[in-house]
Amino acid sequence: MDRRVISSSLDTVFEFDYSVQAEDMRGLYEKAKRDQWNASHDIPWDTPEPDDGRTLADELVDIHGSPIWAKLSERERVELNRRITAWRLSVLVYGEQGAMLACSQLVDTVTGTDQKFFQATQVMDEARHNEVLERYLAKRLDGLHYPMPENERLLFDSILTDPRWYIKTIALQLVAETFAVSMFKMMGECARDPLLREVCRRILQDESRHMGFGMLALPDVVTQASESERHEMEDFTCVAIEKVLTGFFPVDAYRDMGFSPAQIREVQAYRRNVAASNDDAVFRKYFRRDMHAAMVNNLARIGLLTERVRPRLAALGIELPAAA
Ligand SMILES: [Fe+2]
Ligand SMILES: [Fe+2]
Repeated sequence: MDRRVISSSLDTVFEFDYSVQAEDMRGLYEKAKRDQWNASHDIPWDTPEPDDGRTLADELVDIHGSPIWAKLSERERVELNRRITAWRLSVLVYGEQGAMLACSQLVDTVTGTDQKFFQATQVMDEARHNEVLERYLAKRLDGLHYPMPENERLLFDSILTDPRWYIKTIALQLVAETFAVSMFKMMGECARDPLLREVCRRILQDESRHMGFGMLALPDVVTQASESERHEMEDFTCVAIEKVLTGFFPVDAYRDMGFSPAQIREVQAYRRNVAASNDDAVFRKYFRRDMHAAMVNNLARIGLLTERVRPRLAALGIELPAAA
């Protein structure tokens, strides 16, 4: 069977007070109910495919513009374009499934009816995201999937096995979703396929609520934490950010294109050089800036942009505003 079993144990909190305790959280729940959509009916699945078969702009392929790219035929370029899209979407599909599982745990572990109600809606949202991306892969990319990257698996293992809700929320609603929002924005803007653009647009409508949960729920926990608890939150935040920002490379997509190990090393070296020279394609540059700025902004809002965290972010190439 194609599945993984992860053991975890957590406390389930049964609430008996159903009155509204957190107005803003209840407001988020109301928005979530109002803005539900259905992947079966609200996505224009009949949209025609682009004539040349490209799903994303070629600029999103790591080697676009390189000597290796120049040697590829038009047919190979289209195939690589499609494989890279399938690889990116595979990574996102795992993230959606992991988010659904983590949020179902959050329904159990968070205290407060308002928080539980909201998390129940996020479980449904993430199920829909998993569904819609999977349907896109089946519709446009022959159901092509790539394996879950090691860093993503490690990140979700730690989210799903830690019993504390705020640790799950830091990794999911703060770090992983900040990354996912920038990724969907970039893919939506760079989509050559109008169907993919619409899928990204719909997902983004939900993601801003999910980040909103972290922004509402985390500041109090951070303020009330003891020094050692705060250190633990800071460390967990940094590890999650490091996992999200490093170790993602579509090696299998290049291998399936028939690239030799030496050619794949050449691709990786090219990619590193381009990133280091800051000569990256406009889209990727925009993505990095957008994500880094959002991450810094969100960390500052919940009180985790501390003196211990700043140097670790700087080491990852994240630009920081001067300390207050
Ligand atoms: Fe999602
Ligand atoms: Fe989400």
